[in-house]
Amino acid sequence: MGKADVNPVQTRVAVLISGRGSNLKALIAGQQSGGSYQIALVVSNRSQARGLTIASEAGVPTRVIDHTLFDGREPFERVIDQALNEANVELVCLGGFMRVLTPWFVKRWQDRLLNIHPSLLPAFRGLDTHARALNAGVRVHGCTVHFVRPELDNGPIVVQGVVPVIEGDTEQSLAARVLETEHRAYPEALELITSGRARLIDGRIVVEEGWAGGTIWNELAG
Ligand code: GAR
Repeated sequence: MGKADVNPVQTRVAVLISGRGSNLKALIAGQQSGGSYQIALVVSNRSQARGLTIASEAGVPTRVIDHTLFDGREPFERVIDQALNEANVELVCLGGFMRVLTPWFVKRWQDRLLNIHPSLLPAFRGLDTHARALNAGVRVHGCTVHFVRPELDNGPIVVQGVVPVIEGDTEQSLAARVLETEHRAYPEALELITSGRARLIDGRIVVEEGWAGGTIWNELAG
C-alpha cells in the first residue's frame, strides 16, 4: 500500500519551474518523509528544463506551457491555471519559475501560492541576490519561503534558512551554501502549511504552540 492510500488528506501540490529543479527534487523527497502533501503536477515554461526529467523519473505528471507562444502574460497564465485545475491542484509552489506573475494569477491563488527566494527577505528582493549580499558586506545571508503577493518577492514569511558569509566567499560558493539550505527550508515550509501546524492569520504566519521551527540554521553558523 502506498503512502497516498494511507493518508487520504494529502494536499495536492503543483510545482512551477523554469530550469534545474533542485528545489523540486527536495520537495519530492520531502513528501515521502512528511506525508501531508503530494506533488501532483510539474509545470515548466521551458521544454528543456532539467527539472522535467526529475519529475518524470519520480513518476510525477508534467506539462510544458511555453510562454513564448502566448500574446502576453495573462493568456499564458490562464492556460497554467487551467492545467492546475484539471489536476485538482490545491496549492502551488514556485521553484525557480523565472516569469513574473500578474496580479490576476496571484489573486486567483491568494494564500495558496508559495515561493522560495535566495535571500533573507525583505533584504535583496529581485535578481543577483548573492552578488548583492557580498557587495553589501552582510555577515549572514540565506533563503526565504513565503506566500506570494502581487509585489515582487513580498508576502508572509513561512521559513527562513540562514547561512554565514565566510571570508573569501565568491558568488558561487555563497550560492551553493544557500542552495543547501533552500533544500531543507522548502519541504519544511510546505509540510508545515499542509499539515496545518503553521497557519496564515491576518497576514502573518502563526505556528502551533510549542513549535520551534521556522528557522533553518546552516551548521557552520552555530
Ligand atoms: C533557487 O535558488 C531559487 O531560490 C531561485 O532560483 C533557483 C532555482 O533553482 N529563485 C529565484 O531566484 C526566484 N526569484 P532550482 O531550479 O534548482 O530549484
